[in-house]
Amino acid sequence: MASTTSTSTDRINIAIDGPAGAGKSTIARRVAERLSYVYVDTGAMYRAATWYFGQRGIEPEDEEKLLQMLPDLVIELIPEPDGQRVVINGQDATDEIRSIKVNAKVSRYAQVEGLRSRLVALQRQMALRKGVVMDGRDIGTTVLPDAEVKVFMTASVEERARRRFNEMKEQDQITMEQLIQDMARRDRLDQEREISPLRQAEDAVLLDTTNLNLEEVVNVIISMCRSFVRVRE
Ligand code: DC
Repeated sequence: MASTTSTSTDRINIAIDGPAGAGKSTIARRVAERLSYVYVDTGAMYRAATWYFGQRGIEPEDEEKLLQMLPDLVIELIPEPDGQRVVINGQDATDEIRSIKVNAKVSRYAQVEGLRSRLVALQRQMALRKGVVMDGRDIGTTVLPDAEVKVFMTASVEERARRRFNEMKEQDQITMEQLIQDMARRDRLDQEREISPLRQAEDAVLLDTTNLNLEEVVNVIISMCRSFVRVRE
């Protein structure tokens, strides 16, 4: 496969938003690899917070307590050849943040305003020097409204559930039907919440990945980058 790199002086930021299971993280990671950019998985940050507060018995409704403890939460996203490790206050929680328990609760924690503003500030800091591919729900609208390339990635709920099922470590504990329902419920919560709901930015390009393979989607995004950066094949 041809390797593609950009020059270091013409870096841009790339925002990839969309519902769960649309393929954002796999695609974002591949785009980052091709451009030698940094990949930031913001969903992992909300998952990390969910796991951390869940472990300590702090419910999202107990906002006062949660915000009191927030300064103690340290999330590290450590890139690895096959993904990333998520370390929370020194403890590796890479698998735990993808558990059914965290899946079930993360949308509720993601509605807590103080938590969102803290994570958004961290995300903006990571993108200050450009050269970042960031995926999430509110990147194009709220976190990086000035990102040069914005993609809103989607796929049918059945296809998204199938992809998420293949990613899960506890497949024997859930049926595809339950996963479709869980995904539709999370979509609804993410779209209906008051602060930074899941929404396509006006200047984002809509990309339906239901019938596209990984390489095709990566290539579409790389070609969108070509108008901003010199991409060497
Ligand atoms: O992409 P994911 O499934 O790992 O995200 C987990 C949850 O975090 C998802 O239900 C919505 C929330 N989230 C968010 O509210 N804002 C983001 N930028 C990223 C994720």
